[in-house]
Amino acid sequence: MRTTARILTALLAIASPGANVFAQATLKAVFANDFLIGASINRAQFFEEDKIGAAIVKTHFNTISPENILKWESVHPKPGQYAFEAPDRYVDFGVKNNMFVIGHTLVWHNQTPKWVFEDEKGKPVTGDVLLSRLRDHILTVVGRYKGRINGWDVVNEALNEDGTMRQTPWLKIIGEGYIVKAFQYAHQADPKAELYYNDYSLENEAKRAGAIALIKKLLAQNIPVKAVGLQGHDKLDWPSVDQQDATITAFADLGVKVNITELDIDVLPSASQYRGADVTVNYDLREKLNPYKNGLPEAIQAQLARRYADLFRVFLKHRKDITRVTFWCVKDSDSWLNDWPVRGRTSYPLLFDRQGKTKSAFEAVIEAAAKSSKD
Ligand code: XIL
Repeated sequence: MRTTARILTALLAIASPGANVFAQATLKAVFANDFLIGASINRAQFFEEDKIGAAIVKTHFNTISPENILKWESVHPKPGQYAFEAPDRYVDFGVKNNMFVIGHTLVWHNQTPKWVFEDEKGKPVTGDVLLSRLRDHILTVVGRYKGRINGWDVVNEALNEDGTMRQTPWLKIIGEGYIVKAFQYAHQADPKAELYYNDYSLENEAKRAGAIALIKKLLAQNIPVKAVGLQGHDKLDWPSVDQQDATITAFADLGVKVNITELDIDVLPSASQYRGADVTVNYDLREKLNPYKNGLPEAIQAQLARRYADLFRVFLKHRKDITRVTFWCVKDSDSWLNDWPVRGRTSYPLLFDRQGKTKSAFEAVIEAAAKSSKD
């Protein structure tokens, strides 16, 4: 039955490429027996102002992540002042549509206001003061959405490329214990919520080793880490299929689940040797860095489709260990990669084009699912 349904939906998709989303196979149907499938959504989507975007989300996805609205600077912009109107709408959108709702993110060094780390004179606060601010933030935000936000990225990007701890204000002021504390506060605020550690470039060996050591340490202290989030800000040539495969295996072997949390594939030329996903990196827009502003050549479109199929084959192989695969943004026009690491480019990293039509990458992903059920 499962196989028949999949082949049927796959045939439908192939028979009508680029047709409107409603006549097609849906991602959530083809992956129903494998993992949840989702996207990060922006304000216009959960307020349903972007009608096309909201329709794609409802049609194809059964889990959502908030692109920005639950980051500290958005939800807690000033001391003692929380901004819950938009996050409330985000959560309502997910609950109303029976989705697995993700919170992103409680502890990060980016998109966190400076005041968090400073006293009234602008001097760094003590570890105790920062911990009590962290506690207040987590208990307030996680507590508000208890039972409705199903999983939280508790700590985001705590590691350097070489696997050592990143020297963030959290680490410098509180010490390594900030990670344990953040998980404990989140667990206290909502004991049923799944808690995650989320990072990028964990497919690279040194950083992966650092993450493995960190997760082992947390598990040894009985911290309920449910899953590791592999952000998945991928390139056409990175990570290799073998790296992807080995990374999922390595974390699954620790006894945690693996989530692909921010999947996109950058087709644009690299602006430098830098290959990570640090949001603070920025380069000037140069003409040659924006080669596809009038459209993506067919050959690259096909390369992107093959690349998505290769990655999804790995995800499907590990369906037992993967709980969800979430894209970062919905349509190509929504993607942060139009402005990062170079502002004002035209990027094509997703399965839906600027009009919200499915791309050949979408069909390749559907086909990968259909084929996998025959294996
Ligand atoms: C990005 C958003 O997509 C942008 O809109 C924002 O300006 C910067 O952050 N890793 C993460 C995400 O964990 O929160 C980042 O999102 C992308 C990289």
